[in-house]
Amino acid sequence: MMQEFYAAAIKHTEAPLCDELRELGFKSVRLNRGGIPFRGTWRDGWRACIQSRIAQRIYVLMSRFPVSSNDQLYDGVRAIDWSPYLTPNKTLSVNAVTVGSTLDHSGFVALKTKDAIVDQLRETQGGRPSVDRDNADVRVFVYLANNKAVVYLDLSGESLHRRGYRQEAGDAPLRETLAAAILRLSGWDRTTPLIDPMCGSGTIAIEAALWAANIAPGLARERFGFERWACFSEDDATELRALRGEMRALATKEVPRIVGADNDPRVLDMARANARAAGVHLAFREQSALDVQRDDGRRTLVSNPPYGVRLETDPDFPQGLACTISKLHDWRVALLAGTNVYEKSINLRAKEALQLVNGSIECRLLVYDVP
Ligand SMILES: C[S@@+](CC[C@H](N)C(=O)[O-])C[C@H]1O[C@@H](n2cnc3c(N)ncnc32)[C@H](O)[C@@H]1O
Repeated sequence: MMQEFYAAAIKHTEAPLCDELRELGFKSVRLNRGGIPFRGTWRDGWRACIQSRIAQRIYVLMSRFPVSSNDQLYDGVRAIDWSPYLTPNKTLSVNAVTVGSTLDHSGFVALKTKDAIVDQLRETQGGRPSVDRDNADVRVFVYLANNKAVVYLDLSGESLHRRGYRQEAGDAPLRETLAAAILRLSGWDRTTPLIDPMCGSGTIAIEAALWAANIAPGLARERFGFERWACFSEDDATELRALRGEMRALATKEVPRIVGADNDPRVLDMARANARAAGVHLAFREQSALDVQRDDGRRTLVSNPPYGVRLETDPDFPQGLACTISKLHDWRVALLAGTNVYEKSINLRAKEALQLVNGSIECRLLVYDVP
């Protein structure tokens, strides 16, 4: 049976996520603000969890109904059959977002939803699941906009940026999903050699290597949320193992040279450990970004240069980096900049200047073709 899914995106990464899902062959993929709806079988939902590099979460739609009172919300949630997912000995968490609606307190919407689910279970199964905010078996999300509720069940469990390979991170690591979005937005073709000369814990370089090798990011994850649902049977587990096997077989060994560099040996050790855990082969080197040279051929440079306090300690750095970049003839350069100092220093016309958000920092992804 076909389900309606919704792949949640980090703000401003909807377009690359939409491209990715289409490329992965999902059906009825639609560009939409906040996330990308698509349709498919349950197996497609599992596959999205395993294969999407950019989605933060994959949800399945449970119900849509109008809500302008507490009772309507309660009744609408209670009308959903929760028994395939929850039993009294499972744990539950509910999150909610409300916009432009009579019920304008998201905490209250979450609480009311939880009450309706728990009351149904108590009545039909004689016991209630307990709430676990951090590590619930079943995660429910309610989006209430303009007095219309959409109730989703989260297939992902932990957020999908937690690939399972990052053991250690530097001071300001990028989320893996954002790094994957940046790589796609940079226009990298996955065959040109790539360098991140300020690689920190290595997120961009590792995500590049996984993408180039066609290694599905979810293969390193031990478990997804849907595996903890009551209805997830032995047969499902067998089918999921087969699906993982199919995904593993798609990997290729033909990967271009990918280099991560940083001037801080401490973060390079972390990056090496993370790359090992991710099962990718990268070259790491201790080097200042100011010393990157054109060498012998074309490269794509994708990086997230320092900002804030780190930058204040060396105010000449953006100018120096701009000078280095100006000598990288024929290179594609993409910088995720949390400050406009790089844009001001680089004396080239950006091919793209795309808005993105890194954590809570508004950024721009500046893409240049160096002449
Ligand atoms: C914002 S962090 C990058 C974080 C990285 N994307 C990650 O996911 O961990 C910036 C990095 O630039 C490095 N850095 C600062 N100045 C540098 C320089 N002159 N040359 C090379 N790396 C430098 C810092 O050590 C830091 O790891």
